[in-house]
Amino acid sequence: MSRLKALDENLNVNDKRIILRVDLNVPMQEGKVTDKSRINKIIPVIKKLISKKAKIILISHLGRPKGKVIKKLSLEPIAPILENLLNSKVYFSNKSFGSKIIEKSKKIKSGEVLLLENIRFNKEEETNEEAFAKELSKAGDIYVNEAFSCSHRAHSSVCGITKHIDSYAGKQLSEEVNVINMLTNKAEKPVGCIIGGSKISTKIGILTNLVKKMQTIVIVGAMANNFIKYKGHNIGKSLFEKNQENLIKDIIKKCETNNCKLIIPEDVIVAKNYESQTKLKSLNEIDDTDLILDIGENTVKKIYTIIDESKTILWNGPAGYFELEKFFMGSNKIAKKIAQKTKNKSLTSIAGGGDTVAAINKSGCSDDFTYISTAGGAFLELLEGKILPGIKVLEINE
Ligand code: 3PG
Ligand code: MG
Repeated sequence: MSRLKALDENLNVNDKRIILRVDLNVPMQEGKVTDKSRINKIIPVIKKLISKKAKIILISHLGRPKGKVIKKLSLEPIAPILENLLNSKVYFSNKSFGSKIIEKSKKIKSGEVLLLENIRFNKEEETNEEAFAKELSKAGDIYVNEAFSCSHRAHSSVCGITKHIDSYAGKQLSEEVNVINMLTNKAEKPVGCIIGGSKISTKIGILTNLVKKMQTIVIVGAMANNFIKYKGHNIGKSLFEKNQENLIKDIIKKCETNNCKLIIPEDVIVAKNYESQTKLKSLNEIDDTDLILDIGENTVKKIYTIIDESKTILWNGPAGYFELEKFFMGSNKIAKKIAQKTKNKSLTSIAGGGDTVAAINKSGCSDDFTYISTAGGAFLELLEGKILPGIKVLEINE
């Protein structure tokens, strides 16, 4: 048996430098955070450490800069937001490792916070390079992972670092892992899964495994475009991923073998661009200049039926480009329907993913879901029964 090495709540952290790996990978538009869920969620954890007079060093990534410094992916705009929510001094450093950072980590006062620049500006983060991980560890006395949503990444600030410093699973991370495990291992059938969003190839891979556990899979969002195209329809200028035909064929086959219903949109909302007027179209009406940006009314009705038939619903990935009101209809209706049925105690609903959480928040029904995880990929991989590298390094065998 193994369990997570959890941070003892009574541990004296007074004046200790705590490296806290958090997930501040929040949606941003023109330098402004458009959804603060992930920030709000971590505030109580940081506040607790502040009240215990620790020095808090925050590490996070934002987006996928792939080892390059990309100004619009800087974490700098997050510092004042944190400062405001924490009511405590938050320093920002435009570096994330090195002698200056070590110096600064020692210099800040107990109860103060140091936010380091986007860790993915360094290519060694994603390659989990030993020397880099060791450097990172020098900014703290104790390492705590509170970024469940990043724990499927074998990166330096999630995995490598734990070899060089006393490391723990944070309270939220432990809770999240336990709740998802509990809800999914005991999931009452029929289980329906709604998968959407635009990170296509990663999710299609996961789908292959989900077909064995679900009774129905509904594909929405940009990834549905791949399926629509595969079925021989024109998808115009819509987002899709090339060379995925074999994978799609495989998923369709696996669904048949495992008796899992596969639902794809039967109508869509299109526009010529994000600014132009929208139009509801059936699949064979889509022309070369169309962009598919949401599901249509008939598809929503079909999804209602699936939700009605299910006892458990898992949802990851919005149905459309929900950030714009005119393409929010699909996600909004799905959120409201799931919330209403959960409220009536006839459904267990689990949702995950940054964008999904943002869409549910926008629909105003986040309080009515059984459980909402701010993790996307990590959430799906845990559901799939995979061992997450960031969790594994924090496990102790008994
Ligand atoms: C997420 O948003 O899912 C996490 O922050 C991980 O980000 P990633 O998918 O870019 O690794
Ligand atoms: Mg992800």
